[in-house]
Amino acid sequence: MKIAMIGTGYVGLVSGICLSDFGHDVVCVDKDSSKVERLQRGEVPIYEPGLDQLMEKNVSAGRLSFTIDLTEALDDAEAVFIAVGTPTRRGDGHADLSFVMAAAEEIAKTAKNYIVIVTKSTVPVGTNRQVKQTVRKANPDLEFDVASNPEFLREGAAIEDFMKPDRVVVGVQTERAAEVMQEIYRPLYLREFPILTTDLESAEMIKYAANAFLATKITFINEIAALCERTGADVKQVSRGMGLDGRIGNKFLHAGPGYGGSCFPKDTRALARTGQEHGLPLQITEAVIAVNEEIKRRMIDKLVDMCDGSFNGKTVAVLGATFKPNTDDMREAPSLTIVPALVGGGAKVRVCDPQGQREGEERLPGVQWVDDPYKCVSKAHLVVLLTEWNEFRALDLKRIARKMETPRLADLRNIYSVKDAKRAGFDAYESVGRVGFLRQTAKETA
Ligand code: UGA
Repeated sequence: MKIAMIGTGYVGLVSGICLSDFGHDVVCVDKDSSKVERLQRGEVPIYEPGLDQLMEKNVSAGRLSFTIDLTEALDDAEAVFIAVGTPTRRGDGHADLSFVMAAAEEIAKTAKNYIVIVTKSTVPVGTNRQVKQTVRKANPDLEFDVASNPEFLREGAAIEDFMKPDRVVVGVQTERAAEVMQEIYRPLYLREFPILTTDLESAEMIKYAANAFLATKITFINEIAALCERTGADVKQVSRGMGLDGRIGNKFLHAGPGYGGSCFPKDTRALARTGQEHGLPLQITEAVIAVNEEIKRRMIDKLVDMCDGSFNGKTVAVLGATFKPNTDDMREAPSLTIVPALVGGGAKVRVCDPQGQREGEERLPGVQWVDDPYKCVSKAHLVVLLTEWNEFRALDLKRIARKMETPRLADLRNIYSVKDAKRAGFDAYESVGRVGFLRQTAKETA
């Protein structure tokens, strides 16, 4: 089957490449000609483990190509995916649908034969009906159906999530569209991955409700973590004890510096906005958004305490800037709140991140980027572990402590423990949801 994919951002590129790997003939379209040229040269513009090899394999097999020409992409295509951005709209927090609607209009003006217009971008409930109206208005003669096919990819594990999904959700209005969608996902269907066919509105709602629920789960454990610190409990033990209950489950119960990324913050805001528009404020989701901001602020208080009340004149080494490991994405990362607070407070900040430097140089002015974690901590007063990259999971803590001016570790991902830190010779260790320690140094006592 021939498929067109509009948008070569994260979702469009991963979906396009994976669909071509299913054996479909996929043409990816983007307006950005320099991006298309890079893709045509075989360069992958995002960092996602395994994606470059999969792209090369399918381009060589003649199943995958890139173009700026929508007419060429739509020629003979049975389905066209819209995978363009839906950023938070300035002012009201809702999803900005202008790119989606512009794509729908262009499809309407370009397509010749029956086509299924599939929305992959995350869009508020009701958008697919709007897409349908837009297309009908722009080209009343076109025979088409719309389908909602939200994506559930996690950055860093996107290929696996596409190829071995927990479920595929397809919202349709007609049997004809359902058949086309079934054909697209046939390889998954044959391997018995659940394909859930729903109406349009339910498919749209599933995506937002799932992300808001996951954000709630994380925020719940983060709030419990704060209480653990006050009461002497250990949130890692608490999470484990809770997660063993099959009804709760152990996933997304890791306390940390607050959720970030391109999805949870944007999607929770948009869902809250939908609730307000319908006269039904979503109190839980709104609380989650507010508490997540509060959690990030609390992290800064924790770091101030570890710097004896002021960042001024301190050197702070930050390990990790991306919102999570295995990505170069820094959108709404906790580092964007924490690092400016350090710099603003007068600290000299060094940052080490295996993939974050390119984007980070723009977004985090006034910091020095260092490739090696051991160089990063040299003569520092505090090291802050902010992203749980594998590279930072087995650091030689003794070596780190020896290199620091005052060996203090803020482990905001709970990778190490008080015992590890004491054994390595640290003077202070704090994490999230566990009681830390602060030992006065000889220098301070004197
Ligand atoms: C998330 C969802 O997990 C995907 O299912 C969804 O498709 C995607 O959003 C999307 O809507 O496109 P992603 O944003 O890539 O994926 O990242 P996650 O792995 O979900 O992590 C999100 C944030 O939560 C990160 O800041 C992470 O550090 C944080 N997190 C996650 C925690 O603090 N604790 C946890 O236990 C899990």
